[in-house]
Amino acid sequence: MKLLRVLSGEPVWPPPVWLMRQAGRYLPEYRELRTQAGDFLQLCLNPQLAAEVTLQPIRRYGFDAAILFSDILILPMALGQGLRFAEGEGPRLPPLENLATLDPSAAPAIYAPVMETVRSTRAGLPAETALIGFAGAPATVACYMLDGKGSDDGFLRTRTLAYEDPGFVDGLLDILVESTIAYLQAQLDAGANCVMLFESWSGVFPPAQFRRFVIEPTRKIVAALKTANPGVKIIGFPRLCGLMLGEYVRATGIDAVGLDTVTDPALAIAACPEGTVFQGNLDPLLLKSGGAPLAAATRALAEAFRGRPHIFNLGHGITPDVPPAHVAELLSTLRAA
Ligand code: CP3
Repeated sequence: MKLLRVLSGEPVWPPPVWLMRQAGRYLPEYRELRTQAGDFLQLCLNPQLAAEVTLQPIRRYGFDAAILFSDILILPMALGQGLRFAEGEGPRLPPLENLATLDPSAAPAIYAPVMETVRSTRAGLPAETALIGFAGAPATVACYMLDGKGSDDGFLRTRTLAYEDPGFVDGLLDILVESTIAYLQAQLDAGANCVMLFESWSGVFPPAQFRRFVIEPTRKIVAALKTANPGVKIIGFPRLCGLMLGEYVRATGIDAVGLDTVTDPALAIAACPEGTVFQGNLDPLLLKSGGAPLAAATRALAEAFRGRPHIFNLGHGITPDVPPAHVAELLSTLRAA
């Protein structure tokens, strides 16, 4: 698998490619199955449909990796926190008040359908296509659990609690570290070829909190998974972490780092240890218009990492308004490079 070769530090040209949110609303075949499933959560918990949705973009485009179709908020749901997706508004959870309401021992039975999705997806994938399992990183998941919704106000409750009651936040992060280890281990056991930690909101934490709530929990998860699974590869995505990037890579021990759209490849290379594996970071907005700007940016991004281990990807997820033909354009440009 090209993806695993690159994750082991080997430069491959042209680079392997997959796109965050490659299974999603921009694809008509996804919208059809989502309607069949009822809603997004039911789709995530229906192994047959979720596996089918994971495979759709692989059939259409032949990406080098598939990513499990699920969501980072399935874990808090499995821990006992209510979760719903309000149409057009994103996720809603009752803001967490009491850690004792969470039950990690009940979680594996609730997330069991996700493991069934991993098994069916792996069975349906071509041998050369890697299957990426994933979880939200603890700080990002804690932001949703404590604020109860997306980032309209920069996760004000979470960030206030981080100052006023850091012990409570640490307690939640400890629960999330342990349950994320178990959740990712279950995905590896079910057939995921590597895993990724989405730290989408690492950019809201000042440096001291970044070290305590982002780096430290991630380091623990990476260490535990690597002890239990020698050679396993883990991708971290500390979105909007800015100048903390180098420290994140060194201190967490992750194998590859995903870059957001605003990070300059040359500056990322300079900030990280020699040999760091990078993933990213095309602006998804380029996929809306396609054409010459998309082709030029695709070539420039591949060139920026040429000779280094690089997984071509976006700097954030594909948006629903992207014409599927533009994804094909990106791939033909990259494959002709
Ligand atoms: O294709 C893939 O990338 C795999 C599946 C995947 C989803 N969510 C499916 C999804 C993955 C890896 C995620 C991760 C995720 N979920 C993150 C981290 C990455 C990021 O975007 O920063 C976050 C923060 C979430 C939480 C979440 N889920 C939000 C904020 C939303 C609403 C935004 C939106 O696009 O509607 C979701 C819903 C969601 N997760 C959808 C999909 C395909 C859209 C659901 C739908 O209406 O069909």
